[in-house]
Amino acid sequence: MSLPRDAAGGAASVQKPALPGLEEQILASWATNAVAWTRAVRRGEILSRERVTNGAILEAIRDVAPRTLLDLGCGEGWLAHQCALQGIEVLGTDAVAELTAIATESAPPGARFQTLTYQDIATGSLNERFEVVVANFSLLGDRSLGELSSPCRSCSPPVAAFWCRPCTPC
Ligand SMILES: C[S@@+](CC[C@H](N)C(=O)[O-])C[C@H]1O[C@@H](n2cnc3c(N)ncnc32)[C@H](O)[C@@H]1O
Repeated sequence: MSLPRDAAGGAASVQKPALPGLEEQILASWATNAVAWTRAVRRGEILSRERVTNGAILEAIRDVAPRTLLDLGCGEGWLAHQCALQGIEVLGTDAVAELTAIATESAPPGARFQTLTYQDIATGSLNERFEVVVANFSLLGDRSLGELSSPCRSCSPPVAAFWCRPCTPC
């Protein structure tokens, strides 16, 4: 195999791949851990969620009583499933196809899922409106919040938008 020569005709110039940004590293890690994450969530192994945060986010949504909801970074889909069981039309989006596939497999009527990054949504891949936008522990990178102002505009005017951002492992 011959290596490409650089413009000066000298030795081949080998470019080191750029280090992936934090966001890319996070997504690669979610893809690797999709099954283990699903097991942990569905077996109730994350006590802070079981004891506090799951109930709190469901209550906040119930208070607004939306007809439609966008679950950004939906993971394996537990929140979207719960909301659909309460009669809300839900779209869950996540960058990780393994997770949206798992979420779809066990989805009740009213919950559907698409594999979309926040960046996809910010650049117009989602042409729907929602009364509530929720991101439950899914704003993990350094760019997410900036990117998400745009999806929220596409849902405008949302009745409510909830961001639940982790300060400890979620
Ligand atoms: C801690 S999990 C939370 C999942 C779910 N919201 C829940 O309550 O269990 C974070 C999720 O955010 C998703 N995520 C992170 N960065 C993303 C991005 N840039 N675009 C779309 N999804 C992203 C991950 O794939 C992962 O499923």
